Amino acid sequence: MNDKPVNDKLAVAIHAAKYVENGMLVGLGTGSTANYFIEELARRQREEGLTVTTIASSNISMIKAQSLGLNVIALAQVAEIDLYIDGADEITPDMTLLKGRGYDLVLEKLLAKAANQFIVVADKSKLVDRIGTHYAIPIEVMPMAWKAVKRSLEKAGGVGDLRQNVAKDGLSISSHGSLVLDMAFDKSISEAALNHLINNTPGVVEHGIFLGLTSGVLIAGDGKIEERWQ
Ligand code: 5RP
Repeated sequence: MNDKPVNDKLAVAIHAAKYVENGMLVGLGTGSTANYFIEELARRQREEGLTVTTIASSNISMIKAQSLGLNVIALAQVAEIDLYIDGADEITPDMTLLKGRGYDLVLEKLLAKAANQFIVVADKSKLVDRIGTHYAIPIEVMPMAWKAVKRSLEKAGGVGDLRQNVAKDGLSISSHGSLVLDMAFDKSISEAALNHLINNTPGVVEHGIFLGLTSGVLIAGDGKIEERWQ
């Protein structure tokens, strides 16, 4: 009998890698689940002769992919990618996502938009009824504009502040060089309205609500993987 605990993130990442075909340009996500996917992709390249080109959603994923021998190109070289696989912090029933706990949502959203297929990989702890259930909305702001953005969002009922670094002795700076405001909003505001409001606030670089971008989600839990498609 095998009593080893099931690693849901690993299981779903390995499952997702089966969607990668020879010759594809594949977007690599950021986070622990995306890391397992990068490792599995590198394994398939090494052991199965899969030929693949990748494009990373963060410096940390680029470094990991390169260290495992994957060919990584720059976003500036392409307008479109075949497949993007990434994790998420929250997933609603209509596949709206909250992303960005890991500071890299600007590139993540660019890849999600550029991808012909965007597949989200997660364990079932990420399923929620609405965005904002467990986390505030991460909003990357131009450093010079953070006070103006905060005030605009407060007028719409937002509550929050600048994200601090892990040591709590300074501010978090995103890979893109932005400051990050984590703002919570009243549950009566719909995701579409929030998306619209934040998109239309000058000084916002990007934010963590991914609306209408997801092709499908692969959810791992209790040793099984459930696929949901749009
Ligand atoms: C980073 C993200 C990640 O995909 C998200 O935080 C999920 O991470 P993990 O797979 O470690 O749970 O959006 O910006």
